[in-house]
Amino acid sequence: MNNPQVVDSSVDVITHIQQRPLVEMLDDPLDRGQHIEVLRITDLSKFYMMGEVRVDALKHISLEFHAGELAVLLGASGSGKSTLLNIIGGLDVPSSGKLFFHGREMTAATEAELTAYRRRSIGFVFQFYNLISSLSALENVQLVTEIADNPMPAEEALRLVDLGHRLNHFPAQLSGGEQQRVAIARAVAKRPELLLCDEPTGALDFQTGKLVLDVLEKVNRELGTTTLVITHNASIAGMADRVVRLRSGELSEDRQNLTRMSPSELVW
Ligand SMILES: Nc1ncnc2c1ncn2[C@@H]1O[C@H](COP(=O)(O)OP(=O)(O)O)[C@@H](O)[C@H]1O
Ligand SMILES: [Mg+2]
Repeated sequence: MNNPQVVDSSVDVITHIQQRPLVEMLDDPLDRGQHIEVLRITDLSKFYMMGEVRVDALKHISLEFHAGELAVLLGASGSGKSTLLNIIGGLDVPSSGKLFFHGREMTAATEAELTAYRRRSIGFVFQFYNLISSLSALENVQLVTEIADNPMPAEEALRLVDLGHRLNHFPAQLSGGEQQRVAIARAVAKRPELLLCDEPTGALDFQTGKLVLDVLEKVNRELGTTTLVITHNASIAGMADRVVRLRSGELSEDRQNLTRMSPSELVW
């Protein structure tokens, strides 16, 4: 390997694991390396100027996320959730404060480094699926797998989201929930380290939304992808390891769930 940062971070990871007591590791059958820090946000703020008026979208947020974590990000409309996710995903930059990915300061990264970060490390899922209507489910996913470094086969990604029987369907021939699952397959096919989902069930009814959450939970469990899910629906928080809440741009809650509920047990 000729990239010193890659060598450094893998050494950190190994040291970190070795420092954990063996008993603790054996006691934790579902250990997915949750003690390895993937993201660190320190004193992050973001404001927008609307003419003369200043809108403070995020105020002094500090947070860490760990490898394999499934976190739900709650908050009312306008509380700053999308702004935070977009900054984490390198789509937007903060007004002040820092973002670290595996200890590398992304807020000091060059444009080219940010592009590489978005392309290699981040999978995005949005409320509206953004599929290309003239391409089949398989072709929509292949658009990504053709340019990724180490993708899974597009068919495998679609099987992972339980759409192995819909490979040749076009978006118009799929239900909303199925289209969202194609969008999830597209996001995970490049094996991103972070999966960022902004209101992934926002346009779906209750039952269909649960199927989509089931798929996100499965991706997190089977691939170990660190997953952040934005919602304004507090009932969804039960499926998470971690619940983070924003209120008017401020962090108002940050807690661990002792156990994760299966999405099928959620009620809203
Ligand atoms: N590009 C922008 N220009 C101006 N104000 C914005 C912009 N994006 C978001 N905001 C404002 O920042 C606040 C937080 O927005 P957002 O992060 O989208 O909230 P949420 O996703 O929780 O609904 C809101 O008051 C919103 O109007
Ligand atoms: Mg939003």
